[in-house]
Amino acid sequence: MRKIVIAGNWKMNKTLVEASDLVKKLKELVKDIKDRTIIVCPPYPALDAVSREISNSNIELGAQNLFWEEKGAYTGEVSAPMLKAANCVYVIIGHSERRQYFGETDQTVNKKIFAALKHNLFPIVCVGETLDEREANKTFDVIKKQVADGFAGLSADQWEKIIIAYEPVWAIGTGKTATPEQAQEVHAHIRSLLPKEAADGIRILYGGSMKPDNARELLAKPDIDGGLIGGAALKADDFTAIIKSPFDKTQGK
Ligand code: 13P
Repeated sequence: MRKIVIAGNWKMNKTLVEASDLVKKLKELVKDIKDRTIIVCPPYPALDAVSREISNSNIELGAQNLFWEEKGAYTGEVSAPMLKAANCVYVIIGHSERRQYFGETDQTVNKKIFAALKHNLFPIVCVGETLDEREANKTFDVIKKQVADGFAGLSADQWEKIIIAYEPVWAIGTGKTATPEQAQEVHAHIRSLLPKEAADGIRILYGGSMKPDNARELLAKPDIDGGLIGGAALKADDFTAIIKSPFDKTQGK
């Protein structure tokens, strides 16, 4: 059984004080939950404050990005050892917003995955098609290439540390969620592309307008192992409702 992961990607939201307030509320609301992996990914300036707030809690910390070099003259960048020292356990890599606005490619994603793994950070690697690609029936091909190039060269041991997030670009921040059937179809496709030994254990999260009222149906699907949540992660109540969704995997087949 794969443990469900609910991760909040706060994107470029929340100042230091706002971030501390949010996670303080969240900590109280989810304190009794043991059967979910709960992750929050605040912006860099709030990592340390959030990390202090969640020490000795069931919430874990992730970052939203990293650079592949360890240190040096790379103005504005943040490295894996820095994230590790700030108590990050996870790091999001290759989010579609990074690909769209900051020129990230499957090749840079690949370098970042190796940099994260070298420093014992668990990568949460995002893949997903645009609306044009979906409408041109290219979804499966696009994902296949992102997986083949993004994860090139990983050993069996390294695969075990990977979490994948399927985020259809057309569903992010638009209120248009993929239907559970659309998402399941792509999740199953992604799993079929993974090395046999690792495929069963790897968690594949869905991201794209996941909310309290659609989480249950999505999480019921056999290959949907959690969510990477944007907008709804910015409100403690909504994020908690998603975490507590009473889905039933036997109903989702
Ligand atoms: P929304 O939940 O706001 O659509 O964002 C999804 C996402 O991009 C998470 O990484």
